[in-house]
Formats: sequence, structure tokens, C-alpha cells
Amino acid sequence: MIRKILITKEGKKFYVGDTGRDFHTQFGFIRKSDLKSSGKLVKTNKGEQMRILDPSFIDLFRKIKRHAQIITPKDIGMIISNTGVNKKSYVVEFGSGSGALTCFLGHIAKKVSTYDIDDRSLEATRENVKLLKLKNVDVNKADCYAKTEETKDKNADLVAIDLPDPWKALDNAVRAAKTGGFIISNEARKKGLLVLRTIELIEREWVLDKDRARPDFRGLGHTGFLTFARKLE
Ligand SMILES: C[S@@+](CC[C@H](N)C(=O)[O-])C[C@H]1O[C@@H](n2cnc3c(N)ncnc32)[C@H](O)[C@@H]1O
Repeated sequence: MIRKILITKEGKKFYVGDTGRDFHTQFGFIRKSDLKSSGKLVKTNKGEQMRILDPSFIDLFRKIKRHAQIITPKDIGMIISNTGVNKKSYVVEFGSGSGALTCFLGHIAKKVSTYDIDDRSLEATRENVKLLKLKNVDVNKADCYAKTEETKDKNADLVAIDLPDPWKALDNAVRAAKTGGFIISNEARKKGLLVLRTIELIEREWVLDKDRARPDFRGLGHTGFLTFARKLE
């Protein structure tokens, strides 16, 4: 459990689990009496100043356990902005992986039911759901390719598919979605689905310091295609 974070002026972060004892860093230690506060500037015994904060969702998200390739925050942002998922939404996810998308959607939506076939993925997802203190996420073991006439999930506002062979899970996704609901996948061409758009998102940071203002030569390029579709039948 991460209870506090400490941030230096340069942005170096320390994650504090136990606030019941002094916290040691390479800049000296912070006294346990200072670890109880929030928002204050505190000083190590060597005089280094740090801001102490309660961890935000994003601070904790950066610490999630990564087991499978995750959907990156840039693509998660695109999913949220293209589907309008919100606090009333019911979301079904096929392919929990590390639970990165699961946790972000759990943070926003009313409820998330996520499925994976692999025990290590399920374990990583459960661990990350706990780290992020989410109470509205159901983590389930299932083969999302299995042909079923009935699914326990119905009327989902959004079904997100992140599987090696997504087209094999499309029938199940369509059954779980409500009419008008969104399906996101890297394969969504199917009768009864209106394919809205397929995109990839390329993110490039800028190097900004006293000598330079230019795009970074490295970029977070292709991380996957996203196809957005809507169930119309
Ligand atoms: C790329 S990962 C998903 C990553 C996830 N979206 C995230 O953001 O952390 C793909 C997952 O699909 C799961 N998977 C593969 N075949 C499956 C199947 N037939 N049914 C359910 N899950 C399956 C794998 O175990 C793996 O965890």
C-alpha cells in the first residue's frame, strides 16, 4: 500500500508505504512525524526539501505491475474521448492483461467486468485493482473466444477487446453491448456494427531546456490500432 509520495524540486519521486517509521532516501531521511502531513514542504535530516502529498490516481497508476503489453495512457485517453465513458457507464473488457485499461476505466466508469484466460494476467489485474483501491471492478476467468449463446454481461455501454485474435471474440462482444453501445477492437467489421474509425496515435515529447526547444528524436510511436464501432441492431 502506497500512503504518501515525496517529490523533490527536480521532480524525483519517492513512494512511502510505512508512515510509522522514518523514510530513508539518498538525500537523507524524512522523520516519521513529517510523514503524516500532506501538501507541506518537509526537510530531510540533510536539509533537502521535498513536498509530501497523498498519492493521486496517476501516481499510483505509474506503479502498476506490468505483466502483458498494456494499453498506454495515450490510447486510453483516446478510448475515453471517443466513447464518452463516464460515471454511469457499464464497461466489459476482454483481455485484462495487466489491468491497465481495466483500472483506468474502473476509475471513471460505474462498473467494469473484465475477462482473461491466463492466471498470471488475472493475478496482475487483481493486484493492480487493489493498488488503485477500486471497488467497482470484477475480474473473471474465461475464454473470450468460446462460443456462447448467453453472456452474463448485457447492455454494456462499452466493450473493449484487447486479445491476440480479437475477431474471434466479436460475437460475444456484440452480445454484451447494448444497442448504441461502443465496441473497441483492432477488428470490428461485422454485420450490425457501424465502424466509425480506425486510428493510431503517435505521441512525441519535446525537449525543452535553456539551450533547446525541439521535438525529441525518440517518440512513443505505434502502440496499436484502435477501431471504434457501434452496435446498431
Ligand atoms: C495485450 S493483453 C491485454 C492488455 C490490457 N488491455 C492492459 O491494458 O493491460 C492480452 C490478454 O489477452 C489474454 N487472452 C488471450 N487469449 C484469450 C482468450 N481466449 N480469452 C481471454 N483472454 C485471452 C492474454 O492472457 C493477455 O492477458
